[in-house]
Amino acid sequence: MSETEQTAQAKPERKKVILSGIQPTGVFTLGNYLGAVRNWGQMQEDYNCAYFIANLHAITVRQDPAKLRQQTVASYALLLACGVDPQKSLTFIQSHVPTHAELSWVLSCYTQFGELSRMTQFKDKSAKHPENVNVGLFTYPDLMAADILLYQADLVPVGADQKQHLEITRDIATRFNNVHGNVFTVPEPYIPKLGARIMSLADPTKKMSKSDENQNAFVSILDAPETIVKKFKRAVTDSEAEVVYREGKDGINNLMGIYSAVTGDSFETIQRDFAGRGYGDFKQAVGEAVAEHLRPVRENFDRLMKDKAYLEQCYTEGAKKALAISSRTLEKVYHKVGFTKPIR
Ligand code: TYM
Repeated sequence: MSETEQTAQAKPERKKVILSGIQPTGVFTLGNYLGAVRNWGQMQEDYNCAYFIANLHAITVRQDPAKLRQQTVASYALLLACGVDPQKSLTFIQSHVPTHAELSWVLSCYTQFGELSRMTQFKDKSAKHPENVNVGLFTYPDLMAADILLYQADLVPVGADQKQHLEITRDIATRFNNVHGNVFTVPEPYIPKLGARIMSLADPTKKMSKSDENQNAFVSILDAPETIVKKFKRAVTDSEAEVVYREGKDGINNLMGIYSAVTGDSFETIQRDFAGRGYGDFKQAVGEAVAEHLRPVRENFDRLMKDKAYLEQCYTEGAKKALAISSRTLEKVYHKVGFTKPIR
């Protein structure tokens, strides 16, 4: 037996750790689903997965408290409805696990003001809410880094818009490790080939977002099938009539990306199938395919929301486990920076 074989036998390879989160600021959009959440359920067989509802992040923008509470539980139910199984993955609500806020403070002392100033999400959100450019919005990436580093995540499945936050997480982890030794696993982003950036149906040069004021700009994954079809029929495209993927055809490119992500058809197949048929037919087909694809999610969600006790039991158990796992990292960090052991 070679030396490497012997080591492999003595030490079974640890399953890679996957972690991701989503804000409970509304019903998930088709963008959230195709860019992130759909992949989460698919990864739980091969990895050690942790998924959570990022409600601490949500208050960086003013929220109605009663609505936020209700949406947090509904988002947790949606997570399960999209295929995340609480028996296989660690699932929890961020505010239930105090280690996130605690590590975030430590990491903020290892982050430079200049780095945070360069974050595009901070620049976009402060431009959108000039009346409330709060410090939480600015230090948002530190909390996100804490979420990831507490669980020693190897991979973080996110849409393309989160890439910059992953890069700063890596920089913070590396900086901390350089000072204190190997404390954190430096995570990699995991961005899907298809669906990483689903665009608005009303303005295909903008990302689809659940906070868009125009209801026709996004598809919520709980929209009724007729609403979904209607929204796709109204989708902004161009003045040509050819279903082809080409630079400058943002609207059609987006619809082709969505259709391909839900049907598995390649762009060549789509182009061939819709040759000479015009946009009307294509939009109808995309709408119907999406509505059908989301049917099980809607059904699962309706069922889960009827059993709040089950949901509560799942997220309570999740929070306890998450606290136990994340406390190991926090204790190490506290020791490294010179704090005595946390007392709970
Ligand atoms: P959030 O709630 O904005 O979005 C959740 C996930 O959906 C992806 N996404 C999209 N993907 C494709 N096309 C779109 N139009 C689209 N819109 C959103 C996002 O990339 C994301 O993966 N900061 C995070 C939540 C978070 C987090 C974390 C994520 C907090 N802590 C730790 C990973 C790890 C956010 O606001 O996601």
